[in-house]
Amino acid sequence: MTTVLKLGGSVVTEKDSPETVDHVTLDEVAAAVGAGLETDDGTDLVVVHGGGSFGHHHAAAHEVTTTDGTHDATAVREIHGAMGALNEAVLDALSGHGVEAVPVHPLSVAHRNEDGELDLPAAGVDRMLREGFVPVLHGDVVAHEGKGATILSGDDIVVSLAQSLAADRVGLCSTVPGVLDEDGSVIPTVTAFEDVADALGGSDATDVTGGMAGKVRALLDLDVPASIFSPADLSVFLAGGTPGTVVRG
Ligand code: IPE
Repeated sequence: MTTVLKLGGSVVTEKDSPETVDHVTLDEVAAAVGAGLETDDGTDLVVVHGGGSFGHHHAAAHEVTTTDGTHDATAVREIHGAMGALNEAVLDALSGHGVEAVPVHPLSVAHRNEDGELDLPAAGVDRMLREGFVPVLHGDVVAHEGKGATILSGDDIVVSLAQSLAADRVGLCSTVPGVLDEDGSVIPTVTAFEDVADALGGSDATDVTGGMAGKVRALLDLDVPASIFSPADLSVFLAGGTPGTVVRG
């Protein structure tokens, strides 16, 4: 059983305060991951985390987005360096709860072609899993044909790895408890974008990285169901449950 879990940047960082880890929540989610793996050691787990107040802050400062690139190596190093620092904090927290977590930096292995299609080779991640490690990837800046380097969101990494590793389960641990309807209640199941278009601001709703509309669209394309839930429900998800919203295309 292979599970891909994303920890949202807003979950593990204080989003409004530059380069600040939310140690309390990070420790809670790391404890849940540690306990989950201890109970179920048959699960191969890949963790992906977002940028929160580390990546987005530097990306904005250098005006780099998922589509607007830079050829300035200093900008690339600053964005990547900040994400590397956050990755270290996530690894430390997981390690503190007995998780054999090791880093995988997308900048070193991934790239996008002219059409923006992502190539993220997963053989190394797969080998790590087989050797009992928990690979921990992160949103990053990656080389992009004709544009220098652009932002790669953790959500895109999740979708790519879920496909290339033929994952059985996908989870997005977010600050919200799921996809919310217009009254703020969690929608239990989403099987088509039209189900939630109104709640998410209409079918034209777009976002640069991280918005719920983009997440739902990407998850609907997966072959496996994906759950969106808050940190309080992470243990339930890791125990095989389906808290929050299940997106099933
Ligand atoms: C962003 O990743 C990565 C950078 C800005 C370098 P995500 O888009 O996955 O981050 P969150 O989860 O929304 O913070």
